[in-house]
Amino acid sequence: MKLEHIGIAVRSLDQALKFYRDTLGLRVAGLETLAGEKVRVALLPLGETRLELLEATAEDSVIAEFISKRGEGIHHIALQVEQLDRHLKTLAAAGVRILPGKSQYGAGGHRYAFLHPSSCGGVLVELVETAPAAKEAK
Ligand code: CO
Repeated sequence: MKLEHIGIAVRSLDQALKFYRDTLGLRVAGLETLAGEKVRVALLPLGETRLELLEATAEDSVIAEFISKRGEGIHHIALQVEQLDRHLKTLAAAGVRILPGKSQYGAGGHRYAFLHPSSCGGVLVELVETAPAAKEAK
């Protein structure tokens, strides 16, 4: 298992990039809009992991809701796992709350699921399955 990315909720990508890119000096590898999640994402590689700056594109985006409750800050950490379904089965059996209840497909065809913060010491944890293509490329 390794750290895939850290998701940071920001009010404005432009403002956040003034710090992370222009001042801190991180590189922006890409910008993506996830229409289904109503989020615009900036991907900033950081060693073997990356930061994902998350900006809401609508009032009812989970990121807008997070910021209205808690302000800007770390939204989730994502761990890369193999065999996501096996992990979810074990976690569910241990009483861990899984959101939205089963795995789903995200950008790039990656399968993922979230573990509720109440099960993870207050941290929203995303599990991302290692893509078969990525494994072959190594
Ligand atoms: Co994520």
